Amino acid sequence: MNWYPTSFRARRTLATGVVAALVCIGVSLLFLLFAGGKEADRSQALATGTWNRVVPLVRQGPLPSVLHDGKGVAIQVLDAHNQVVSATRQLVGKPPMATFRSTSEDVRAARVLCPPAGLKGCMTVVSYKIYQLDGVWLLYLAVPVIPWYGDTTALLLAIGVSLLVVTMMTAWAFRDLTKVLLPVNAIRMELAEITATGLHRRVPVPGKYEEIKCLAETANDTLDRLEGAYQQLRRFTSDASHDLRSPITAMRAQLEEALMYPRDTDWPKMTEAVLTGVERLQAIVTDLLALARLDAGAPLLRDATDLGRLVGAELSRRTYRVKIVKDLGRNVFICCDRLRIIRVLVNLLDNAERHATSQITVGVRADGQTATLEVLDDGAGIAVEHREMVFDRFTRLDASRDRDAGGTGLGLAIAREIAEAHDGTLTIEDSERGARFVLRLPVCDPPPAVDPDDFSETRSPSAGADDGEDRPRPPARESWTISNARGGGTS
Ligand SMILES: Nc1ncnc2c1ncn2[C@@H]1O[C@H](COP(=O)(O)OP(=O)(O)OP(=O)(O)O)[C@@H](O)[C@H]1O
Ligand SMILES: [Mg+2]
Repeated sequence: MNWYPTSFRARRTLATGVVAALVCIGVSLLFLLFAGGKEADRSQALATGTWNRVVPLVRQGPLPSVLHDGKGVAIQVLDAHNQVVSATRQLVGKPPMATFRSTSEDVRAARVLCPPAGLKGCMTVVSYKIYQLDGVWLLYLAVPVIPWYGDTTALLLAIGVSLLVVTMMTAWAFRDLTKVLLPVNAIRMELAEITATGLHRRVPVPGKYEEIKCLAETANDTLDRLEGAYQQLRRFTSDASHDLRSPITAMRAQLEEALMYPRDTDWPKMTEAVLTGVERLQAIVTDLLALARLDAGAPLLRDATDLGRLVGAELSRRTYRVKIVKDLGRNVFICCDRLRIIRVLVNLLDNAERHATSQITVGVRADGQTATLEVLDDGAGIAVEHREMVFDRFTRLDASRDRDAGGTGLGLAIAREIAEAHDGTLTIEDSERGARFVLRLPVCDPPPAVDPDDFSETRSPSAGADDGEDRPRPPARESWTISNARGGGTS
């Protein structure tokens, strides 16, 4: 079992308590050693003071048999024959408290005796030699033993203060961490309660603690994005189901009616109508597949390509009901998946042709390190507030529904995904008249040698190309405008 707590708060509190205890032990030791030293000095001074007081009395003689016991020091004076001639009250009539004496030239010697004769407990006994005319007299002084920590009061004081400091520090750390972690807990609880149905909820942002504030704000930003993505996915799913259901319902009605009145049914016409529905379903499913592959980040081919020539080749491949004005700069190289870039171009040209009144202008140029492709028509244009919306999946503006019921509303979404997969952008920008779509891609170095027939061999989606990811092209059908847009039939 792991004895160490896993909670951050418990660990920090424990760590603070341990550190505070170590610091207190260190400081207390220093304090007690200092107090012990002081006490030892005091005891030494007491012994020296007693010696200073008693030696003159011995020298003067005669000594009183009972000495005044100054400040609790037990004293005995022994004559040259080791007879106690004078002592403090508690040692009167008692034998010498010790037998040792300094053996060297030193007049002083000290020992701890437990107990000295005639006394109780352990005491430090100090023996002084006093040189008299009749020999060496001895003065014994007994003072209490001084422990290393001085006295009990100092020890109790150190322990008391240490316990108080450790308790206060630990309590402070616990209280402070509890306060700091409170908003984290609130964020955790809110996040735990957020489900797919409560994506509008946000975590509380605390007023203080910058780091936790940042965490809460980041969590809320993430929730914003998640909510946006979830709403988009919901819209996408419901739009996709709706767009898939409509042709299925129509085909079912046609087939049921034909089965009900087989003799009255114009079978070739009915089959053609059902085929149109099937083609539309096929177009939607293929577009959805293309989008799913782009979403999954499928790897792109990256061929160095002259964008002007690629666009020129695509324009000359088909005819238009409106006039095409070309301004195609050469040697503007991009590293791209040609089929996908052609797919963007085809969708832009289809849209432009559908909405243009009389003219479409297509331009290619290099702006520094950016290759720019512009498709501009002279139609009604797209209102500023719809310019981002049209890139959403299944978005078709009302005017387009009237103009062409066959579009899926996925073309621009796919085109933008392709642009972004090439590290570029696709936007709608201001123009005097009509809609101006601008594709920007990073330029790259030209290949060592460019084959003039390079692009003629590139199968275009509009020519029924199948790159393995794009939709298989249905045969061109005059009755279905989208087949021109996707199938690239001539008009
Ligand atoms: N040049 C344009 N002028 C005006 N509106 C346009 C133009 N290009 C696109 N739009 C609007 O943007 C919408 C989305 O275009 P998008 O290409 O994504 O779909 P679509 O053309 O309707 O269908 P498809 O999936 O077949 O391309 C169109 O339905 C139309 O309303
Ligand atoms: Mg389109």
